[in-house]
Amino acid sequence: MAKAMSFLIILFLLALAPLCLCLKTYGGYLYPQFYDHSCPKAQEIVKSVVAKAVAREPRMAASLLRLHFHDCFVKGCDASLLLDSSGSIISEKMSLPNRNSARGFEVLDEIKSALEKECPATVSCADILALAARDSTVLTGGPTWEVPLGRRDSRGASLSGSNNNIPAPNSKFQTILTKFKLQGLDIVDLVALSGSHTIGNSRCASFRQRLYNQTGNGLPDLTLEQSYAAHLRTRCPRSGEDQNLFFLDFVSPTKFDNFYFKDLLAYEGLLSSDQILLTQNAQSMELVKQYAENNELFFQQFAKSMIKMGNISPLTDTRGEIRKNCRKINTY
Ligand code: HEM
Repeated sequence: MAKAMSFLIILFLLALAPLCLCLKTYGGYLYPQFYDHSCPKAQEIVKSVVAKAVAREPRMAASLLRLHFHDCFVKGCDASLLLDSSGSIISEKMSLPNRNSARGFEVLDEIKSALEKECPATVSCADILALAARDSTVLTGGPTWEVPLGRRDSRGASLSGSNNNIPAPNSKFQTILTKFKLQGLDIVDLVALSGSHTIGNSRCASFRQRLYNQTGNGLPDLTLEQSYAAHLRTRCPRSGEDQNLFFLDFVSPTKFDNFYFKDLLAYEGLLSSDQILLTQNAQSMELVKQYAENNELFFQQFAKSMIKMGNISPLTDTRGEIRKNCRKINTY
């Protein structure tokens, strides 16, 4: 009898084995329905706080979109960017690409506190960043996509990762492409995601070199349209006024559209890293032309590339944590 029972138990366990394996394969993957049961209102709450913030200040859409990029390129999409300095943590907010530049952290705080009220310790800051980036794109007229979810938050930050992995606006084409490839992104992703510069602003300090001394010979960047350059020089002098703001796409600065690519064709891209997509590589030049001509194609690729970027090395399952406050790691 005992023998028969243990045989039956073994049979039963064997029958369950494929199920366990199958469940396991979900481990490590993100999926859009992640909060459907644990926090059904999560997406609605993020959207409403983002919408309010963008209504208060249209530029906020651009700032939130950029935060997801600056998060994902450093240790993966794990909200490491949102940590303030404390204890052994040196905040990524102090890095060269972020200092005096990355903004929108108060909006993340507002979203997080609304979510903690609705479903405590459930929705990660990393997922909030991914959702806020999508909502910002939609609110300004861009494409929508379903955001894969289930990221968890890091218990550390990397200042050096932030300085090294995020490309600089005066980097060479190959350097920028290499930094994208190191994240598993390709040239198509690079061009499509650079299309984010259809909204938002840049400081004078980020493109000054192009106006006065692009290659060290005292001459401006000749791939910058001359009268546009003269106009930029009026508020971006040789020295000082570093923080003066300029639209990245001067035609429709708060609208997510393909004018960014049309600007590049007119040699009116603001950053050197923008204009070189047209001038330094045949394949990216072709993509710029296609996106300038076909807004739908740009939108489709942008959505795909955002999902790809959002999938960079997430912390899942038992790795990382769900922070209670996006600025601090949890204390136990
Ligand atoms: C390809 C390499 C890239 C470089 C070199 C670059 C560089 C920059 C720089 C220098 C600024 C202006 C910052 C300032 O002066 O304060 C900026 C702004 C911005 N970037 Fe990028 N970026 C790149 C790619 C991306 C990507 C992939 C995204 C999003 C997916 C993005 C989204 C934005 C947005 C939306 C803004 C405007 C932010 C605001 O107005 O607050 N950028 N970027």
